[in-house]
Amino acid sequence: SLKVPNNEMIINPKDSDQEWQKYSEAVKKVPRNLDIPMIINGKKVFSQNKVKNLNPSNGEAIGSYQQADATHSQLAIDAALNAKEKWASLSPATRIQKFRDLENILLKWKYELCAVSSVECGYNSYETYVEWAELMDFVRFNNYFYADILSEQLGDGWGETNQIQMRPLKGFTCAVTPFNFPQAIGYNLPLVMALTGNTVVWKPSDDAVMSGYMLMLALDEAGFPPGVINMITGDGKPCLPTVLTHPELTAVNFTGSFQTARAFGNYLYNTEYPRANFPRYVAETGGKDFLVADSDIDVIDTARCIIQGAFGRSGQKCSANSVALIHETIWPELRSALLKETDSLIVCNAIERKCDVGPVINERQFNKITSYIDRAKNDKNCKIIAGGTYEKNNGFYVSPTIIEVYVDKHELLSEEIFGPVIAVRTYKKFEDAVSIIQQHNYRLTGSVISKNENFLEQAVPVLSQLAGNFYVNRKTTGAIVNMQPFGGDGASGTNGKAGGKWYLLNFISQGTITRRN
Ligand code: SER
Repeated sequence: SLKVPNNEMIINPKDSDQEWQKYSEAVKKVPRNLDIPMIINGKKVFSQNKVKNLNPSNGEAIGSYQQADATHSQLAIDAALNAKEKWASLSPATRIQKFRDLENILLKWKYELCAVSSVECGYNSYETYVEWAELMDFVRFNNYFYADILSEQLGDGWGETNQIQMRPLKGFTCAVTPFNFPQAIGYNLPLVMALTGNTVVWKPSDDAVMSGYMLMLALDEAGFPPGVINMITGDGKPCLPTVLTHPELTAVNFTGSFQTARAFGNYLYNTEYPRANFPRYVAETGGKDFLVADSDIDVIDTARCIIQGAFGRSGQKCSANSVALIHETIWPELRSALLKETDSLIVCNAIERKCDVGPVINERQFNKITSYIDRAKNDKNCKIIAGGTYEKNNGFYVSPTIIEVYVDKHELLSEEIFGPVIAVRTYKKFEDAVSIIQQHNYRLTGSVISKNENFLEQAVPVLSQLAGNFYVNRKTTGAIVNMQPFGGDGASGTNGKAGGKWYLLNFISQGTITRRN
């Protein structure tokens, strides 16, 4: 039934020989020497300027991709503008049908999609299954949300009858997507824009280009007209300004860093560029996602919430649990449980069956994450109590790291790290935990753990205001489509709420027609 997300039906390939067989066969077949083209107006486009595509698990090249420049961007913009009128004038039911066809293809390509995500981005088999399930949920629920929005009816009165139209935006739109959920988030952003009748210039992360190419192949197989989604690739600097300053750009859907989101905003609203519209801007950025544990908790369960929240996908989630505020009376016990759980995690190549924690995505992220660890090593205000090791001779590996912090103001308590590193700070009074969270302006996810209803009664109303997605007695990660529409405000973004019905309104222009009877 529509109410049951695919997420609930995943069989962990680590626990099933049959699933493992299919997954590992697909891993073998991932091309290791592919020159990935851009796809503009349904055609392969190559650039003179090629970049190596690396497998983060072993640092080896698995082919190459194209660095787009302004000329490629212009081609993609022209293609999107040319395809627009026809695509927008199709009935929504026709577009919904196209997305059902796409859904069937993505369903058939499950193992291939998961395998690419492991090989190109370093996610372990189970993590890729969870992501694939989320992708399927996005595609399926977006159709349902769109149909629901289209059924909206206005009131009539004063001798007038009213009609509402859910129109596509004018011009063309742009999606820029991250490496960390290359298929769930990576595909959902351009797909929602296209479903609602827009045409798109899409730049997937340069760390997830093969995943991007697979969506383009799936769109082609599903019979999407050329030009509806156009994929350009590479570093954004040489190619995105052409898109972001274009006068006919009407929306940007972005997931990535706070800094990049700000830089995009500058292009969109800088009066220096000619523009006769106000582009919609949806930006989902970072987080410093917190977990507050009261004194009255199940210690093992809490330790697992922290471990899964902090180290899943090697901590490369905007929702990753990166600060734990623990009541001082329970800390010694929780500390032992955490160390034991962390110790049992296996860090290795993502395609191995035993892998719990794969590599981080690339050398730049590796250097950033390990710089926090290095500073912590020489800092008397904190102590590394688990992990703290790393190596990049053969892939980019950072061991799951827990750092106890002894002061209230510290970079580890307020900065997003985007790697398998969590800071712990103990607190005496609940208010102290709250003020630590309030020191930064990220408002993405948070959670509270307690068996004490009185504590929860006090804590939930306060803490829930500090996160777009707040969880009681569970981890900070793993929002599910149609259950927890995802996003936050403040430095975490514009709170567009992907995975919820209202998300689609970001890319729809409502019109009303009123008739006097
Ligand atoms: N939606 C993901 C989660 O909730 C993060 O992007 O973990």
